[in-house]
Amino acid sequence: MIEIRKIQKGEYEEMYILRWEMHGKPFGISKNKLKDLVDKISVIVVAFDTEKKQVVGSARLGPCILSKATIGYLQVMESYRKKGVGRKLMEFLHNEAKKKGIRKLELSARTSVEKFYKELGYVPVGDYYETKKYKIPGIDMEYFL
Ligand SMILES: CC(C)(COP(=O)(O)OP(=O)(O)OC[C@H]1O[C@@H](n2cnc3c(N)ncnc32)[C@H](O)[C@@H]1OP(=O)(O)O)[C@@H](O)C(=O)NCCC(=O)NCCS
Repeated sequence: MIEIRKIQKGEYEEMYILRWEMHGKPFGISKNKLKDLVDKISVIVVAFDTEKKQVVGSARLGPCILSKATIGYLQVMESYRKKGVGRKLMEFLHNEAKKKGIRKLELSARTSVEKFYKELGYVPVGDYYETKKYKIPGIDMEYFL
């Protein structure tokens, strides 16, 4: 069974390795570069395989500033994709955001997953771009709660 819940004590490194493998390694980003202080004040949600006792997906909701917050670092392990896990992680964070009184969510989407976010109700904002250093094609998107 896949459990969608907040990260628990002792799971941070496991979650982080998954984050780096999806958001760092493919772009040549060094290993600890994606750790930041925002993690300490964010809601981190994980998808946890209860049989294998393994974190297989995660995402984070940053702090609320002026009724807005940013969602980032969404990933699902390759063998668990296309089964609704990504959608459930996002829905969990939408609920958390509602509880905090957040009205608007923002994120930077890779263009390869723009459709995934559109299906969740996100709308593109502005033009397509490439991130400065790593040249990853992206688009900013937003969602109103
Ligand atoms: C994006 C990602 C998290 C989606 O996770 P997932 O568990 O496969 O997504 P789901 O199964 O919940 O898919 C939800 C819907 O989006 C669609 N979808 C999923 N991935 C998609 C993709 N890459 N492109 C287009 N549509 C996609 C699915 O078809 C599904 O539609 P349906 O409900 O009509 O069947 C996963 O592909 C991933 O980890 N990618 C690598 C990391 C990444 O790109 N993260 C986002 C950075 S901005």
